[in-house]
Amino acid sequence: GTEDAATLRTPIVAVLGHVDHGKTSLLDKIRGSAVSEGESGAITQHIGATAVPLETISSMAGELVDPDDFDLPGLLFIDTPGHHSFSTLRARGGALADIAILVVDVNDGFQPQTEEAIDIIQRTGTPFVVAANKVDTIPGWNPNEGAPIKASYDAQSERVRSTLDEGLYDIIGDLSSAGFSADLYWRVQEFQRNIGVVPVSAMTGEGVSDLLAVLMGLSQRYMREEMEVDVSGSGVGTVLEVKEERGFGATIDVVVYDGVIREGDTIVVGGMDEPIVTEIRALLQPRPLAEIRTENRFERVDEIEAAAGVKIAAPELDDAMAGAPVMVVRDRPVEAVVDDVRAEL
Ligand code: GTP
Ligand code: MG
Repeated sequence: GTEDAATLRTPIVAVLGHVDHGKTSLLDKIRGSAVSEGESGAITQHIGATAVPLETISSMAGELVDPDDFDLPGLLFIDTPGHHSFSTLRARGGALADIAILVVDVNDGFQPQTEEAIDIIQRTGTPFVVAANKVDTIPGWNPNEGAPIKASYDAQSERVRSTLDEGLYDIIGDLSSAGFSADLYWRVQEFQRNIGVVPVSAMTGEGVSDLLAVLMGLSQRYMREEMEVDVSGSGVGTVLEVKEERGFGATIDVVVYDGVIREGDTIVVGGMDEPIVTEIRALLQPRPLAEIRTENRFERVDEIEAAAGVKIAAPELDDAMAGAPVMVVRDRPVEAVVDDVRAEL
């Protein structure tokens, strides 16, 4: 990396797709956790956030990512629910994204919430990559734990390869019907114009290195300028969840997508009836690679820069609303910030 790494904002990567297509499992593979197994009814019901440092990404991507080629601090992954009833959460997750991963079960292909995710991506103009997941479930698949996908693909029987090809071409066809020119990622030269499709398995880890390499390439090449923001400006974020926390009362889990938030800052948070004006008592940061949704050991920090997931403890948060904005009051009158928050409710 270069010397200005500290001034680059961490890109936000939203993971979108149909229910059960493997979004949480894919993130589990990347962060080395088992969040998916602990979910009730095995479905995700909230938006999650996980900070993955550059070193982790480059060590997982192996030779596909050279950390010296990158000066982004890492990636902040946003997990979203695929169940049809959570369309608001998907829209919210999509709106936060700088980049998206569209997860599609390679056997199942495009499904209603895949289409919905595509609509969100199109509406927000978010660059994206497609993870064609569950390649290991293709009958006869010969797994090769953690291998880059091309090596794995070449090691399969002709029959397995042609079954996989069929699934992949269905996905490429559906992307084309949605107006996107797409191809297998190793054939894509210009990721801005063509959507790369990466065959992966969240179970065996095959292709995960490729997916991370494409993501890092996309963010470095096409997002870098957008990431050159003033991370010392007034913090702005979105509430993911309101939660009771022992010793703190009501707290809010927040994705900070701009600026910096500090302990002691006055913030305005969208509430059930009206904006809440309060002062931050504690900023609680999840450990690197931890899902904020399930984390139970937070580190208390003085400040946190975008993009990041953070739990905020402050008085009066009982009526805070998931999805509402959070804005730091720093160099503007409180009333002006209250008006801004009210305008977004
Ligand atoms: P929602 O959050 O409810 O939308 O689901 P999701 O997309 O997060 O799917 P999840 O990761 O919970 O996975 C659904 C089921 O598919 C789980 O039983 C996973 O173990 C399984 N699964 C996910 N990815 C793979 C994969 O690559 N291979 C295999 N064999 N199973 C997978
Ligand atoms: Mg999930």
